[in-house]
Amino acid sequence: MAFDIDMIREVYSQMAERVDKARELVGKPLTLSEKILYSHLWDGTPTKSFQRGKDYVDFAPDRIACQDATAQMALLQFMQAGKKSVAVPTTVHCDHLIQAKQGAAPDLMRANETSSEVFDFLESVSNKYGIGFWRPGAGIIHQVVLENYAFPGGMMIGTDSHTVNAGGLGMLAIGVGGADAVDVMAGMAWELKFPKLIGVKLTGKLNGWTASKDVILKVADILTVKGGTGAIVEYFGPGAQNLSCTGKGTICNMGAEIGATTSTFGYDDSMERFLRATDRNDIADEANKIREYLTGDSEVYENPEQYFDQVIEIDLDTLRPHLNGPFTPDLATPVGELGEKARKNDWPLKVDWGLIGSCTNSSYEDLTRAASIARQAVENKITPKSDFGINPGSEQIRFTAERDGILNVFEQLGATIFTNACGPCIGQWDRSDRKGDEKNTIVHSFNRNFSKRADGNPNTHAFVGSPEMVAAIAISGRLDFDPMTDTLINDEGQEVKLNEPRGIELPPEGFAVDDNGYLAPKEDGSSVEVKVAENSERLQLLKPFEPIKDSELQGMKLLIKAFGKCTTDHISMAGPWLRYRGHLDNIANNTLIGAVNAFNKQTNFVKNQMTGEYGGVPNVQREYKAKGIKTIVVGDHNYGEGSSREHAAMQPRFLGVAVVLVKSFARIHETNLKKQGMLGLTFANEADYDLIQEDDTFNLVDIAEFAENKPLTIEIVHGDGSKDTIKANHTYNDAQIKWYREGSALNLIKKQNA
Ligand code: F3S
Repeated sequence: MAFDIDMIREVYSQMAERVDKARELVGKPLTLSEKILYSHLWDGTPTKSFQRGKDYVDFAPDRIACQDATAQMALLQFMQAGKKSVAVPTTVHCDHLIQAKQGAAPDLMRANETSSEVFDFLESVSNKYGIGFWRPGAGIIHQVVLENYAFPGGMMIGTDSHTVNAGGLGMLAIGVGGADAVDVMAGMAWELKFPKLIGVKLTGKLNGWTASKDVILKVADILTVKGGTGAIVEYFGPGAQNLSCTGKGTICNMGAEIGATTSTFGYDDSMERFLRATDRNDIADEANKIREYLTGDSEVYENPEQYFDQVIEIDLDTLRPHLNGPFTPDLATPVGELGEKARKNDWPLKVDWGLIGSCTNSSYEDLTRAASIARQAVENKITPKSDFGINPGSEQIRFTAERDGILNVFEQLGATIFTNACGPCIGQWDRSDRKGDEKNTIVHSFNRNFSKRADGNPNTHAFVGSPEMVAAIAISGRLDFDPMTDTLINDEGQEVKLNEPRGIELPPEGFAVDDNGYLAPKEDGSSVEVKVAENSERLQLLKPFEPIKDSELQGMKLLIKAFGKCTTDHISMAGPWLRYRGHLDNIANNTLIGAVNAFNKQTNFVKNQMTGEYGGVPNVQREYKAKGIKTIVVGDHNYGEGSSREHAAMQPRFLGVAVVLVKSFARIHETNLKKQGMLGLTFANEADYDLIQEDDTFNLVDIAEFAENKPLTIEIVHGDGSKDTIKANHTYNDAQIKWYREGSALNLIKKQNA
């Protein structure tokens, strides 16, 4: 069985008591989001109420999901914890490393050749540690999760930003960095700032060409790409009840595009139907018993302004279909108005590709709605003017859609059916018609349309829409086509008007699948050998970090004084480096290469104090490492902002950086430094940043007395022998000081397990 009904029963059995207690403590009716948060506290039954947007709270998620790109380092780290198996049900999904080119079968074969060492590693490590493994081709992580693991009222974390998709089935599902996932796998709590709450009231009913996708395209228009930051978006109202479960998933999925922590919907009949259709009657039966706890209190939805931090209302009766883009998912234009806007902005009107798929819109219902448009083209002898590509969300969806003749409709239009995987959504697309970096337009049903996202071409103008709108636009081949008013000319010169899309929420004959691609782990994996080739370029087993000795913090050299913005991308770049995500030594060759050197305003060009020569940051650092000299990185404000990538802390640590001293930290990066056993310090006096010179040597004079709430003293010895003594603050608590003293949080866990 893919899911664990006993675990779900346990969650539900505690829910009533915990929610009732929380309601009493908060002193008012609760939203669904609060019910799930308060029923998943690490300490069990709530004892106090939390301040939204302020308090950091420890939670106990029910599940973890990892995709193949991020799982590599997460699992390599987990192996360091000395555990026999993961503490929380976990799955790994191979979906990111499959390039779309010729079609499912040849593409999958190629991926299995080029990335076999990564897949073999993930499969073996999953088998060893009790992790469910979904093979390449089994499906896109978030569709597979929705079909197999998501459950109303649950909390999950996943090492992918679109983990939030599971909100379509009433979960709080949140994307995290690998370090957070490792903590939870190893049996530790997961910390989150108690989110703010945005309520979206949906009234009316979708009709005509308007789809669930248009709800989130509109929300993105209203809130913009930053409007959801630090908040959970909770949808409610009669309009919500009228949406299918997978449609709700689409809406929650793209909550990532407005920066929301996650999005969710209350349990309703559509979710019950989906649970039963995906062979989970027992969960539906259990959920029905505690229905009132799996949705917000009625008073909340009657007077939302009193209970949410912000409320938006959308009337589905009047909502129009949109296409959002190019280059940002919040630039919304109603379909009928896009032609004028495109002409004004000189966006190419000719559409080269229509792509249907991604974790956002690849459900059975999505495919049927798009197919209802494609079928009209076939029946009316209309040759599509754009190329079509389809990525079904899972093997179960693909198998069922093939059985029901849905894929065949697209094939009759010459569509390429790609693997059940991310493909073009993550730039894994060898585009056949690509000629250099020419300006061109594509439409897709994905979530992200930033420059270069789909095909690496900065001049590809990508517009996001519903699958059925993508189908209509691709058939017409024009960005200014409005299927609600315009007609098409068929191959015989006749005028044809497309009818509105029709979809089938769930397959009338039920879902079917031959081999869903799931591999259950061994009951006892202790004898399983983890496969990592000795000379692998992409994978490397980790060695525990040695604790940094107090004596090593005397005579540290300055590696770089970073100027201005220094995000995790500056510290550990993405792009071609993604290939080395599972190989710390190799990926360390990109360490801080994007950071600007404050002394010469150049990137990747720092002074080696031992030779007086300048070189790339990783090279200079490796020379210090070879001589056993620890180094310090100095930074500006909000150092380490951006993604929660743990590599940005692991790489400097691996190369021998001991201290990062900055004006201020992005909190997640600061925590990641602590977890890796480094010192993350802030200038007590910000102006001391200006004291740092290129030839400086640093002594942490009172490190032996490192303690909670006690600033540290740093002696700076300048090149001319003069000295400055400054104070550095830190936020280490006693437990985190133990991480530091042991060399890393994982070292401590391992010691405690021994
Ligand atoms: Fe994959 Fe794109 Fe979703 S990369 S997980 S399909 S956002």
